[in-house]
Amino acid sequence: MGEHKRIGILTSGGDCAGLNAVIRAVVHRAVGTYDWEVMGICRSTVGLMSRPVQALYLDIDRVDTTLTMGGTILGTTNKGNPFAFPMADGSLSDRSDEIIEGYHQLGLDALIGVGGDGSLAILRRIAQQGKINLIGIPKTIDNDVGITERSIGFDTAVNIATEALDRLHFTAASHSRVMILEVMGRDAGHIALNAGIAGGADIILIPEIPYRLDNVCRKIKERQDQGKNFCSAIVSEAVCTTEGELMKYQDRFGECRLGGIGNYLAEEIATTSGAETRVTVLGHVQRGGIPSPLDRLLGSAFGVAAVDLIASEQYDRMVTWQNREVAIVPIAEAIGQYRAVDPNDTLVKTARGLGICLGD
Ligand code: F6P
Repeated sequence: MGEHKRIGILTSGGDCAGLNAVIRAVVHRAVGTYDWEVMGICRSTVGLMSRPVQALYLDIDRVDTTLTMGGTILGTTNKGNPFAFPMADGSLSDRSDEIIEGYHQLGLDALIGVGGDGSLAILRRIAQQGKINLIGIPKTIDNDVGITERSIGFDTAVNIATEALDRLHFTAASHSRVMILEVMGRDAGHIALNAGIAGGADIILIPEIPYRLDNVCRKIKERQDQGKNFCSAIVSEAVCTTEGELMKYQDRFGECRLGGIGNYLAEEIATTSGAETRVTVLGHVQRGGIPSPLDRLLGSAFGVAAVDLIASEQYDRMVTWQNREVAIVPIAEAIGQYRAVDPNDTLVKTARGLGICLGD
């Protein structure tokens, strides 16, 4: 059975569906199988830099009903890099040592960090500095973490975006309109590509494939010529304008947010093609709600595998999904490669084969 351990788990970066499935699996494996203790750290590194440290004991009863819950019972943050943390007086402070001290105050033997590439890079830097035994679990609706074919939250987001397209289809047909659905994904077009094919979109625009407006309008015209007076388009938030500009704005906290390409395109398409256009910006709906069965499976498999890595004292590793099974890689290797949509990806070929306009 090995020596008794006390381990910590935190969720970091934007929330997504399936995080609670991970937490539940970690507790079941660590407490149920190994008879260890699990501390859930609140609001990611913010919990570790707080005094007293914000954390709670997680036993099997606590996670009994979490499998189907959206969000994260531990809370999270996607603001404030701990190496340049914004302080009340407006200055930036390196708070990494407080986080390391917080980890040691809890008497932890290892830490499981559930995050995207940005969070995992920060956690790894802290772990190296503080000699923390870290295991990474990839999560992000953007599905852009290197090496892993899937990250937690992606499948649920694709399901939601697909359902949105399904619903828009009927209203588009009823009114003979071009319906544009703007989806998240940051710099990667995985959500748009996957949901676009699954939801029968006529046009899919992703950041990895530059588009031309005349190609988009030609597709709309082509459908009109076939007697189909409506069209559905899905566009990733990081698709640029025809001038190559990213549609973004700064919020009142100074954070850069993507958004607006749907409305921009609607205007351009209406002006160029004369088609009546409407826009739906799906936003955070994609991150919320009940996790899909696949995200529950992935979360469960990753949670169990992460605890097993701690049992065999293999640290600085990340669990990944490859060829229908869990595979273990060094965290550095995963965060060292960004996973955008490969223009030669099989799904890109599928979209082209279906006659979907990718704008190029
Ligand atoms: O990285 C996940 C993500 O949902 C992106 O797709 C999106 O651009 C961003 O986070 C939104 O962040 P926030 O929750 O801070 O608005």
